[in-house]
Amino acid sequence: MELKSIGTIHTPYKNNDAPFQPPQNTEGKEFFIELDEKYLEGLKDLETLKYIYLLYYLDQSQEQTDLTVKTPWSNKEIGLFATRSPNRINSIGLSVVELLKIEANRIYISSLDAFDGTPLLDIKPYMKDLDTKADANHGWLEEEDFKHLQLHIDGEAH
Ligand SMILES: C[S@@+](CC[C@H](N)C(=O)[O-])C[C@H]1O[C@@H](n2cnc3c(N)ncnc32)[C@H](O)[C@@H]1O
Repeated sequence: MELKSIGTIHTPYKNNDAPFQPPQNTEGKEFFIELDEKYLEGLKDLETLKYIYLLYYLDQSQEQTDLTVKTPWSNKEIGLFATRSPNRINSIGLSVVELLKIEANRIYISSLDAFDGTPLLDIKPYMKDLDTKADANHGWLEEEDFKHLQLHIDGEAH
């Protein structure tokens, strides 16, 4: 199995330091994709979409052998496939981002939790109704932990 990088994700998160989830308050910070010029034609019609999925290669992750992981905030063991741990069997990252504008091979997007320089594997449309699940739940994430996570996402001191 061989995957090709189609471009590079640029974020303010240099030196391998990124938040656990995409922050809301990113004023003055820029997030964009630099698409390899040879794939430019594939951007046709992308700008009609408000949100897109990004699939990327978590190139700095550690090889994963444990099938359970501890969350950064508790000692509870959670099954790997029930988490968004960056250390996985296959180091694939996934984000839904807002598409802000496209300028030549640069696609400006809303925030995501990837390191600057992360290789991009694919872009796919996030479509209203097809991709929205109104009855989604928080699974194993306890209500208190969700509230705590939300404070991180909102960038609020706590
Ligand atoms: C909880 S993971 C979620 C990643 C992705 N949004 C997903 O759901 O697949 C977010 C963490 O991934 C790590 N990360 C981001 N970019 C990475 C990269 N290129 N290689 C390895 N780890 C990365 C950072 O430590 C960040 O805090």
